[in-house]
Amino acid sequence: MAMSDDLKQIEAQVQEGLAKVADPKALDALRVSVLGRKGSLTALMHMMGKVPPEERPAMGKLANTVRANVDMAITKRAEELKREAMNRRMSAEAVDVTLPGRRLSPGTQHLINQIREEMEDIFCGLGYTVEDGPYVETTWYNFTALNAPEDHPSRSSKDTFYVVDNAPEGKEHHVLGESDVLLRTQTSGVQVHVMERQKPPIYMICPGTVFRPDTADANHLPQFTQVEGLVVDKGITFGDLKGTLDYFTREIFGKDRATRYRPHFFPFTEPSCEVDVSCGVCGGKGCRFCKGTGWLEILGCGMVDPNVLRNCGIDPEEYSGFAFGIGVERVAALRYDLPDLRMLMTGDMRFLHQF
Ligand code: DAH
Repeated sequence: MAMSDDLKQIEAQVQEGLAKVADPKALDALRVSVLGRKGSLTALMHMMGKVPPEERPAMGKLANTVRANVDMAITKRAEELKREAMNRRMSAEAVDVTLPGRRLSPGTQHLINQIREEMEDIFCGLGYTVEDGPYVETTWYNFTALNAPEDHPSRSSKDTFYVVDNAPEGKEHHVLGESDVLLRTQTSGVQVHVMERQKPPIYMICPGTVFRPDTADANHLPQFTQVEGLVVDKGITFGDLKGTLDYFTREIFGKDRATRYRPHFFPFTEPSCEVDVSCGVCGGKGCRFCKGTGWLEILGCGMVDPNVLRNCGIDPEEYSGFAFGIGVERVAALRYDLPDLRMLMTGDMRFLHQF
């Protein structure tokens, strides 16, 4: 019988089509093509009137069954597609909780800051305070109050970065000397700041950055770190200076390193000397690192010049003192036998992580 065949064929076609349907859009198209207003099954239902009356109940029942089956099959397939899509999404977005985490690299303190803190610890242990001072100074603090003569070569713009030039027309700024503004070339100016704001006894160090118009090479950096020291008290002698700095060098370089005090000149101290420490590479015999001398220079020091005390309102008849300035990069280089100071500035983690 033609109509029942057609109904069964539609059902078979739907089953076949459902197997091929791969997404909700295709499924909807299939549903519309069968159950929609112009769908194949809908069209057959409309022809029910032409079926002879005696066959109509059976045909109607069959048509309803087919319709229910088709409806159910489509719903089932829709749910399957939904589940498949969810499974696909879950495996695509899966997180493997067993994978190792991404490690953050927190870095380490820079070698220069490590040594600066070590120096602070050594001097704090001796009862010193740790002071601070401005990077931008006037010539008064950087030179004049420190007893540097007007024609001292370090005042020239070849040796000092000037920020503001207040010199009258025709005069070289570094000669005027009082009110020009510069990047400090040494931490010694902090001596003046501290003596201005504090009466003796003074036992202080000041770590900080200093600047000089030098081209960076193995032994020079245009920006480096110093630790300044100043002691002003009653009855301070060169013996106190030597005892303090010998203690410091043994603490920082080890007990097996010897020191030597070499006469030198600094405007702000009298007498002045440079201190050398015995070479750690050759043990003092002489090698390439110490240029054959067996010694490496690490700091400048001396007894505070009475003129400096007077410039800061302290009576040199009542008080005496000593001062020193240590190059922190030099200490790092000598302690770890660094062949080139620039290694400290490049930020190469392979180098920095060693410390
Ligand atoms: N300011 C000196 C420099 O930069 C170092 C120095 C030497 C500091 C002697 C001092 C000192 O306090 O007494 O070369």
